[in-house]
Amino acid sequence: MDVFEAMSTCRAMRYLEPDPVDDELIEQIITAATWAPSPGNSQGRDFVVVKDADKKRRIGDAIEAVMARPVAAMERPDRTHRLMLDGTAHLIETLKSCPVLILVCGKAVYPYAAPRESFVWSSIYPAAQNLIVAARALGLGTVFTTFQGTAEPTIRETLSIPDDVHIGCVIPVGWPGKKFGPLKRVGYDSVVHVDEWRGDLRTYPPTYDE
Ligand SMILES: Cc1cc2nc3c(=O)[nH]c(=O)nc-3n(C[C@H](O)[C@H](O)[C@H](O)COP(=O)(O)O)c2cc1C
Repeated sequence: MDVFEAMSTCRAMRYLEPDPVDDELIEQIITAATWAPSPGNSQGRDFVVVKDADKKRRIGDAIEAVMARPVAAMERPDRTHRLMLDGTAHLIETLKSCPVLILVCGKAVYPYAAPRESFVWSSIYPAAQNLIVAARALGLGTVFTTFQGTAEPTIRETLSIPDDVHIGCVIPVGWPGKKFGPLKRVGYDSVVHVDEWRGDLRTYPPTYDE
């Protein structure tokens, strides 16, 4: 698949089928993640692949226990919010049955003489995005999540992740249960400043014609 097509249809896929995903595909998307740049090419990131049903259940249950109620209670003022939050609620409920969870983790290793935490995220996020786009190109669904913050002690204990390793995101991977498709994003003219800053070009949160 053309990379522009993959990127422009790479919706957050919160509905994933429980069917297994071949190890070769997981290896392929993580290999794509390793191609991402990082500060000084330090590559301070690691990938924890969770396939074990009991471990996924422990992680999923811990996240669900904290997140299910607040997400259910969040306001859904319009269709966009309703679809997103209903999807998030569904994902929380089904996290344990997603075929694979990939945690993109990183340690403060750069600059080598005086490592800084900010560079951890600079290593993790390009890699995570590479992984997500590669998965899309293979027809696999994924979604960036930062749910781990709600259940970090359980996740660390379940996966033996050391304290000095940051968990950047948890990416569920599986065959999509809904369609990929066009993204809602503000356009080129709303984000580009040519030769000089043009003041506020837009408001937040972004609005769209429904
Ligand atoms: C750093 C980061 C963290 C995110 N965390 C969550 C999350 O915890 N749960 C979730 O359902 N989606 C999460 N998302 C997904 C975003 O909500 C999603 O990418 C955004 O709403 C755009 O959706 P779309 O790609 O389907 O258009 C996260 C995305 C990013 C980049």
